[in-house]
Amino acid sequence: MRILSGIQPTGRFHWGNYFGAIRQYIALQDNEQAFYFIADLHALTTVRDPALLQEYSREAAIDLLALGLKPEQATLFRQSDVPEISELTWLLMTVTQMSLLEKCHAYKDKQAKGLAADAGLFTYPVLMAADILLYDSDKVPVGVDQVQHIEVARDIAGRFNAMYNAEALHLPEAYVVESTAKVPGTDGEKMSKSYGNTIELFQPAKKLRKRIMSIKTDSAALEDSKVPETCSVFTLYQLFADEQQQNALADRYRAGGMGYGEAKQTLYEAAMEYFAPARERREQLVANIDQVEDILQAGATRAREKGREVLDRVRAACGLSAQGQ
Ligand code: ADP
Ligand code: TRP
Repeated sequence: MRILSGIQPTGRFHWGNYFGAIRQYIALQDNEQAFYFIADLHALTTVRDPALLQEYSREAAIDLLALGLKPEQATLFRQSDVPEISELTWLLMTVTQMSLLEKCHAYKDKQAKGLAADAGLFTYPVLMAADILLYDSDKVPVGVDQVQHIEVARDIAGRFNAMYNAEALHLPEAYVVESTAKVPGTDGEKMSKSYGNTIELFQPAKKLRKRIMSIKTDSAALEDSKVPETCSVFTLYQLFADEQQQNALADRYRAGGMGYGEAKQTLYEAAMEYFAPARERREQLVANIDQVEDILQAGATRAREKGREVLDRVRAACGLSAQGQ
């Protein structure tokens, strides 16, 4: 069974990305053959600063490794290091109906806002279908927002196979990760880069503390009894604490006499402790950046090997010569 997922390097990873996606993706590496990649070709539709894109891609690799992705178990690579992706994208584009892409939300949302979309954004789901189909992927772990794109990949694969009367492409299935509901940001809304309310995973301790202290709370006075269930600080604390610790903090909320500053300090300490091993691994990786690049290159080699096999099958099915023949 092949598991595959991609993550866009459009910024630094935050708690929402980790608890909503990355943690679940990494857990799958233990039981399945996993391919994970940094979707830098996709990110090109939003990050237009070359130095920044390079930095985000590198940081994404470092973060994933620091958070527990084991390169000897899972294959980690950069999307752009697999040129076969672009070739397959074109071949798939020739069987993709415009009407299918017109329904896709990345493009539709931009249109609805009256913004001009480029062809890259319009055809983004085809690139994503190529990502998935190039490696005969079986299961694709994604958040609910991406399920539509997996359907598109299935649709395109089905059309290709039917058109050429061949079993050239393997139909994947979405595997919707059970995310711990929505992780709230500093303003109480869903944590997201686009809302500017994120808490980044690996920012320096001092900055992290400052960020946590800026979380919006209600105006209850120190002595007042407080409601943990509706407080973002408490919701975030639940990500890091066991049941006993959660109950202890909830009791202190209800009893009154504890200010939000103290609750935030408790959250800060819990987060620092939770991510301490990852922070340490990250420092080692930053000090050995060549090793990270080697891991990505080795991953790309493995991915290309599988990709070549599938691409040759697809080329043969539609009447192109197999490469090297
Ligand atoms: P952002 O909204 O910051 O741009 P992305 O859209 O790049 O984040 O999200 C990457 C992954 O992280 C997605 O699978 C998404 O489901 C998950 N994710 C992002 N923010 C949250 C959140 N606040 N709660 C739960 N999951 C999240
Ligand atoms: N579009 C996905 C996102 O924004 C990232 C992605 C690109 C992806 N290619 C993929 C996810 C292939 C799964 C499989 O989150």
